[in-house]
Amino acid sequence: MAKYRADSSPVKVDLGVGVYRDLDGNTPVLACVRRAEQAVLAAQSTKSYVAAAGREEFNGAVEEMVLGPAHAARRAARARTTQTPGGCGALRVGAELIRAAAPSVTVHVSDPTWGNHVPLLGSSGLRLERYPYYDAAAHRLRFDAMLEHLDRATAGDVVLIHVCCHNPTGADLDPAQWQALARLLAQRRLVPFLDLAYQGFAVDLQADAQGVRLVADQVPEALIAISFSKNMGLYRERTGALTVIGENQARADAMQSHVLQIARSIYSMPPDHGAAIAAHIFANPALKAQWIEELAAMRTRISEMRGLLARQLHEATGKGTFDFIRAQRGMFSLLGVSPDAVERLREKHHIYMLTDSRMNLAGITPHNAAYVANAIASELQEPV
Ligand SMILES: Cc1ncc(COP(=O)(O)O)c(C=O)c1O
Repeated sequence: MAKYRADSSPVKVDLGVGVYRDLDGNTPVLACVRRAEQAVLAAQSTKSYVAAAGREEFNGAVEEMVLGPAHAARRAARARTTQTPGGCGALRVGAELIRAAAPSVTVHVSDPTWGNHVPLLGSSGLRLERYPYYDAAAHRLRFDAMLEHLDRATAGDVVLIHVCCHNPTGADLDPAQWQALARLLAQRRLVPFLDLAYQGFAVDLQADAQGVRLVADQVPEALIAISFSKNMGLYRERTGALTVIGENQARADAMQSHVLQIARSIYSMPPDHGAAIAAHIFANPALKAQWIEELAAMRTRISEMRGLLARQLHEATGKGTFDFIRAQRGMFSLLGVSPDAVERLREKHHIYMLTDSRMNLAGITPHNAAYVANAIASELQEPV
């Protein structure tokens, strides 16, 4: 980020940042958020604490958004939701819960995974292992290898799963793969820790939660980390939630009680402002409809830029090597080139991405797509 800022070239392109960008390169406040925010501020009469679990109406609405209104776990009152400071807060509290309940378990994370997963989960003292997930050079999932790895895991181990818009690969499981994974988790008695940071960024709010709902149908216990940073653009307001599902009501209550104790010991109370905004949007049908529209607009823009960049790369290279970019989902894809090529793109062409060649497609615009594609084509000495 510092190198990008210091680069005075007028053609520089930032594909490294982890936030949504519109066509003008801005990360806007959603209009529904602005309206809700005004209502929240006008109605607010105190800044006193809410609760360690945050806002009840937020937690209820989030649980319904993620599991759906009629999910068996909710009907059986086996789900408990706690507001957290962003998805990171949920991941960290979840890690501490696992550590308190079963200190010797291993948490299996995808290879590759989001860079922050390792410190967030590892700093609680849990042992981490990687399961094969994606072959960056071949641009495809390693689903069979993933299942083989998990089949060898010890009962009680935890599996961290990106629900949709996998970060950094953009490669998600299809419905049949979700079924196979859910079956394996249940058979091998593995505990899913589902990371849902991009609900609504792949297909829509319903379709993007299917993996969670399906897994939660088949396993007795699960953890779900939810973030509103991307889909409501609430990044700095630190708005998220941790849903835990217990085998029965008593287990769910015990899990929730531990979660609250952990929350108190780390940050005491979650910040309120973003959750108040989200709760207001959920409770107001007109605002919710506006949110769904704005979310669709962000999703469509990214998907159009995926199509555009893939087409330009096809033209520039004369090959379909990069067609995979079109079909992947969410903001990120791995270009699948060497760190040297990433450096050349930065030094010679002012195009910035992460060293592992993760690109944020929200940094592409109709104005820079051809430039980026030609630069990539010119830097690929070895066939990829
Ligand atoms: C995979 C993944 N999980 C969780 C998060 C949590 O984000 P936040 O703490 O901002 O809600 C992110 C954000 O980039 C992410 O990419």
